[in-house]
Amino acid sequence: MDRLTLRRPDDWHLHLRDGAMLNAVLPETARHFARALIMPNLVPPVVTAADAADYRDRILAAKPRGSRFQPLMTLYLTEDTDVRDLRAAAEIGLISAVKLYPAGATTNSASGVTDFSKVKRVLENMAQIGLPLCVHGEVTDPAVDIFDREAAFIETVLDPIRRDVPGLRVVMEHVTTSDAVDYVRGGGDDIVATITTHHLVINRNHILAGGIRPHYYCLPVAKRESHRRALVAAATSGDPSFFLGTDSAPHLDAAKLQPCGCAGCFTATNTLSVLAEVFEAEGALERLEAFTSLNGAAFYGIEANDERIVLVKGDPINVPPGILTDEGVVTVFDPGMPLHWHVEG
Ligand code: DOR
Ligand code: ZN
Repeated sequence: MDRLTLRRPDDWHLHLRDGAMLNAVLPETARHFARALIMPNLVPPVVTAADAADYRDRILAAKPRGSRFQPLMTLYLTEDTDVRDLRAAAEIGLISAVKLYPAGATTNSASGVTDFSKVKRVLENMAQIGLPLCVHGEVTDPAVDIFDREAAFIETVLDPIRRDVPGLRVVMEHVTTSDAVDYVRGGGDDIVATITTHHLVINRNHILAGGIRPHYYCLPVAKRESHRRALVAAATSGDPSFFLGTDSAPHLDAAKLQPCGCAGCFTATNTLSVLAEVFEAEGALERLEAFTSLNGAAFYGIEANDERIVLVKGDPINVPPGILTDEGVVTVFDPGMPLHWHVEG
């Protein structure tokens, strides 16, 4: 097979940032994707309906001319989130989900949740109206090994929340372990997972063996190979519980290449080429569309996109090593393999 037609994909977990960074990275996503769920971890975070409306306007203003890209907004859950504001934002379709960061788990998560009892009423309201909770699933207890934080989160935080708030619809985001895959598979209709492009390609050796590679450092950190294999199996299975959320997370090289560098892989530019390669290697190209374009829309209760894109296979493509913002360079994710597929047009 050397041509593959897909419904235009959606990215169910994307960081666009703001200002110069937003201007530089938005075209990279808008080129191929119809819609993306926009993460609210700005500084300060997107907490209220008014914040989300303003941010949405800034995104729309940064869109390339002629682009029909649609940002789907989220609110950042805090212990002070106002239920009425949140419900009103959901009712008018301003927000598509709410994002839970355990306080301190990752980039700009300081305003996140420490005491889960304080958000119970918000979660109950979300369950009532069917508004999904997108979860960064890692415990923040410094005593827990960083490679165990996702598995520990499922047992000590996520499962108790779901028992406490029946009917809450949950997206376990950027899953990195077979534990998470198993939990989602056995968890019924109210729990799904997004999987990133980079976690389908790298394991922890890629970050650490033979030299440290800061551009592969992200959170949750990539785990051992057996976990990566579990993610590939889930993504390529066609199971509607798994879909693409790239977590494309741009940071300037100046911020990544530090004694204490930022977490995030920037994959917007070459995601579809990388995914085609991964699915082809599994003999699963015919299931790529479910992962990129169907399963997520179905979970969020919206139509799949009518437009189509065509992936074409040929000689290895040249991906730019980075993109330039007004403030410096953002390195593009290097999958470490030739990419033969590109999006036509
Ligand atoms: O690697 C990551 N980068 N993981 C996250 O959870 C946040 C993200 C970011 O905002 O940079
Ligand atoms: Zn993220």
